[in-house]
Amino acid sequence: MKLFLVAGARPNFMKIGPLVDEMKKHPEIDPIIVHTGQHYDYEMSAIFFKDLEIAKPDIYLGVGSGSQGEQTGKIMIAIEKEMIEHRPDLVVVVGDVNSTLAASVVASKLHIPIAHVEAGLRSFDRTMPEEINRQVTDVLSEYLFTTEESGNENLRKEGITEEKIYFVGDIMIEAIINAKCKMQKVKLSINNLKSKIFNLESPYALLTLHRPSNVDDKNTFSRVLNAVDEVSRKIPIIFPIHPRTRKMAEKFGLSEKLKPLHVIKPLGYLDFIVLEKNAKFVLTDSGSIQAETTYFGIPCLTIRENTERPVTISMGTNKLVGTDKDKIVEESLDILDGENKKGHIPPLWDGKTAERIVDVIRFN
Ligand code: UD1
Repeated sequence: MKLFLVAGARPNFMKIGPLVDEMKKHPEIDPIIVHTGQHYDYEMSAIFFKDLEIAKPDIYLGVGSGSQGEQTGKIMIAIEKEMIEHRPDLVVVVGDVNSTLAASVVASKLHIPIAHVEAGLRSFDRTMPEEINRQVTDVLSEYLFTTEESGNENLRKEGITEEKIYFVGDIMIEAIINAKCKMQKVKLSINNLKSKIFNLESPYALLTLHRPSNVDDKNTFSRVLNAVDEVSRKIPIIFPIHPRTRKMAEKFGLSEKLKPLHVIKPLGYLDFIVLEKNAKFVLTDSGSIQAETTYFGIPCLTIRENTERPVTISMGTNKLVGTDKDKIVEESLDILDGENKKGHIPPLWDGKTAERIVDVIRFN
């Protein structure tokens, strides 16, 4: 069985790693890794292949950046040619980025079945490009692999038939579990990094920020930076900065406000998860990090009004704090005062997700 495994942006790469490893155990499966090139900087792409020991992509489309329509269109044009040439039996897409949507639309029109890993997640907020990507991909997919119960319910409500829905757990957690043995080694490099910026033993908070709704709007971006600046007076904040965020800070003249933070370039996968696991708490607007912190049991304050991963709130360590300055500061200070949300690891976040997915693909 020939299949395309499509990845394009940073949060995709850790999801395909465990799948490739599992597929290698079954000689009847011939996975072709397709990298769309949506993310292309070394720190946003190649380092993940290196850290996760994923084989080099078989096909690199090199589409690069662009507006939503332009980027999606470029991926569609390039991937259609490859699908026509290789005629895969199945296209596997992960997550909710523009590459996920583009590959799904093209596969669907070529009558190639689609498997969506991380199906059913909904923020119910169509101002997020990711929400549109999720909904379109799910409606076109034959196999919908879900991470949490809310995903199953959302799909049922949208009229997806039960036999297409497979509750398999979170593939990202599997990437973390697989990386555990390498984390000790990485600790050394992180200690090195920390010692350059502050006393090794001091607690720190970790910040990530890149959502268009937070950083493409000057007022919101400025408000969030004011909040984290205030928090940084109580605890040092390490901020691996996303290229979009750096660009927007320069464009809006907000670079000064980054000064109280320990701004570093985007980190590789291993460095990042070690930093995350050892943080006092995490402030983020990412999707994936809400799940990772729940797995690690580290408090997470999500700088958004909604989440597509409600289990991280109901069972995990996540709290939505929105973009209100006082709320962000108050919740951060509560954590520093010891008011930590205790969580549990959600069902099937157990490191066996890739095996479940590959079994479904093999026997259906
Ligand atoms: C994308 C995903 C988002 C995911 C995020 C993780 C979509 C719609 N969004 O958002 O779901 O959470 O990735 O990082 O697919 N850039 C670089 N170097 C790179 C990549 C991007 O400089 O390697 C710049 C681009 O020029 C652009 C900006 O960063 O200005 C944003 O890149 P883009 O691919 O549009 O989406 P992200 O914001 O990264």
